Amino acid sequence: MKKLVVLISGSGTNLQSILDACASGRIHGRVAAVFSNKASAYGLTRAQQAGVPTLSLAASNFADREAFDRQLIAEIDAYAPDLVVLAGYMRILSSAFVARYHDRLLNIHPSLLPKYPGLHTHRQALENGDTEHGTSVHFVTDELDGGPVILQARVPVLAGDSEEAITGRVQQQEHVIYPQVINWFIEGRLVMRDGKAWLDGKPLPPQGCDRA
Ligand code: GAR
Repeated sequence: MKKLVVLISGSGTNLQSILDACASGRIHGRVAAVFSNKASAYGLTRAQQAGVPTLSLAASNFADREAFDRQLIAEIDAYAPDLVVLAGYMRILSSAFVARYHDRLLNIHPSLLPKYPGLHTHRQALENGDTEHGTSVHFVTDELDGGPVILQARVPVLAGDSEEAITGRVQQQEHVIYPQVINWFIEGRLVMRDGKAWLDGKPLPPQGCDRA
């Protein structure tokens, strides 16, 4: 069975959707380990409840980003994962980390990329008066939130929406599309080649598949 390692920093609702999809067979793989850069991340409890080994590393114990990522790579590689999944992992990756997992490193970002890379995406969508917002699953490259997009889900922005309301609406979609993309990869249908995402032998357009 193919193995995933999941990296988190927080609540882990996406991790939960991945654990649930593995348990129900919607992902034909298993989560071998969960790592966090925050010891207090609730996602670690979710992993433990599912019987998955966990580890947290504190940045303050390392001289720099490279040293932190070297240790993280050693810990991850002990599980020989087929795929590394960033699920709300809020730490910038070193180039060495990205290179190590090149072609098998996925992220979910809460915006319709290339719109709003970086932080506070929901707030920006509200402040800019967008009528539509969403989330994107993409392969990770050295460019922050800039790798090839695989699948997006769109949600409406409604009159009077709060940041919490729009966050909840986006996350509901994330819990559907991330397990789906992960399973495409696990089944060998999805690859990254020539800087593009390919699904079923066809290159995806710059903004990936679209899901209303
Ligand atoms: C998710 O909404 C994810 O898109 C976002 O963090 C949230 C984590 O929630 N990721 C990023 O902003 C990465 N740039 P979760 O811990 O409940 O899965």
